[in-house]
Amino acid sequence: MAKAEKKLRIGSIGIGGMGNGHLNAHVNNKRVELVALCDLIPEKCEKAIERLKLDPKTPIYTDFREMIEKEDLDAVDIATPNDFHSIIAVYALEHGLHVFCEKPDAINASEALKMKEASEKAGKVLMVMRNNRYYSNSQYIKKFIEDGGAGDIYCGRCGWIRRRGIPGKGGWFTTKAKSGGGPLIDLGVHMIDLSIWLMGNPKPVAVSGCTFSKFAENDAESDSEHSAFGEKKAGGTFDVEDLAMGFIRFDNGACLQIEFSWASNIEQEKRFVELRGTKAGFTWNDDGTCGIWTEDEDGKLVDLKPDCGAMGNGHARALEHFSRIVLDGAEKDYIPEQGVNMIKILDAIYESAKTGREVALV
Ligand SMILES: NC(=O)c1ccc[n+]([C@@H]2O[C@H](COP(=O)([O-])OP(=O)(O)OC[C@H]3O[C@@H](n4cnc5c(N)ncnc54)[C@H](O)[C@@H]3O)[C@@H](O)[C@H]2O)c1
Repeated sequence: MAKAEKKLRIGSIGIGGMGNGHLNAHVNNKRVELVALCDLIPEKCEKAIERLKLDPKTPIYTDFREMIEKEDLDAVDIATPNDFHSIIAVYALEHGLHVFCEKPDAINASEALKMKEASEKAGKVLMVMRNNRYYSNSQYIKKFIEDGGAGDIYCGRCGWIRRRGIPGKGGWFTTKAKSGGGPLIDLGVHMIDLSIWLMGNPKPVAVSGCTFSKFAENDAESDSEHSAFGEKKAGGTFDVEDLAMGFIRFDNGACLQIEFSWASNIEQEKRFVELRGTKAGFTWNDDGTCGIWTEDEDGKLVDLKPDCGAMGNGHARALEHFSRIVLDGAEKDYIPEQGVNMIKILDAIYESAKTGREVALV
């Protein structure tokens, strides 16, 4: 009789908006066994078990430490508010488990560094969600660049700007101690990472930025389909920015302009990456398309609009890749060093916004 294929035994922690999305991906991945669920609110786990028709005896925990100690797990999947990412990841790594964690890596660079060091010490995989890298248009552009199509990429712009779309206003998203910040850390991680990854991961060396908080008292309706995350709390804390703009310099001389808002007076929500190379520039669009701007041998300007196929589910693809890294030794895409550099950029932009000066990264 054929030996049963080894499955990745996962304990999921944080069964809120995003955690439920992760569970969907796990149940659709035949190589994952969902062993236990953990949330401070046990009813959230019960509901998920019912919704996904999981084994009704699936153990539920309210304390991640107890789950890690009692269950026979290979890995944990963390989708709690940001302040718990490093606490849970370090604990799990120290207990010999692999870790998949939602973005942002951590609420500051020293916490992100603790995660990286714990993963190195334990020799276990630490992968943080980088769903944007896994969309079909991102993969298409990455290959185009790696094949030399763009030449030397020397500058770009990226952003995720919303007109009205503050997630979980008054709750953890808008509380600096729990989230690490506003749209810069919430949305910045997505598009800055996608840009730097496409640029070939140059090392950031200096940043400059401004942040603003102008919409704490504004209760206009949201026009953002992406802002439904987190639970609102009437009269809760709002001590983060609602808009950030900045500029990043890299060790290879390249630069990147950035802008992120949860609320600002613009025409409509837009997520974008636009990079310029010596041979071609390109635009990544949030509808799954992309454009390539170049010229032919006769110097005639050429606009290419390649068919990248359906955008796909970047979150599910990232989680599936994590299972293949652990089970099959598949090549890693996310490297913890990239996460530390990312959070260093964000910390330094917050510092620059306070001091009004460019901040060098060390
Ligand atoms: N990649 C993406 O596109 C994306 C989108 C939205 C959110 N996120 C990230 O996912 C994470 C969760 O966001 P969300 O929108 O699902 O938030 P949420 O508030 O809906 O869910 C968080 C859940 O974690 C639980 N929780 C809190 N502290 C806990 C602890 N110590 N132990 C166990 N459970 C705990 C809460 O009870 C809640 O159910 C955040 O880090 C966020 O940045 C990522």
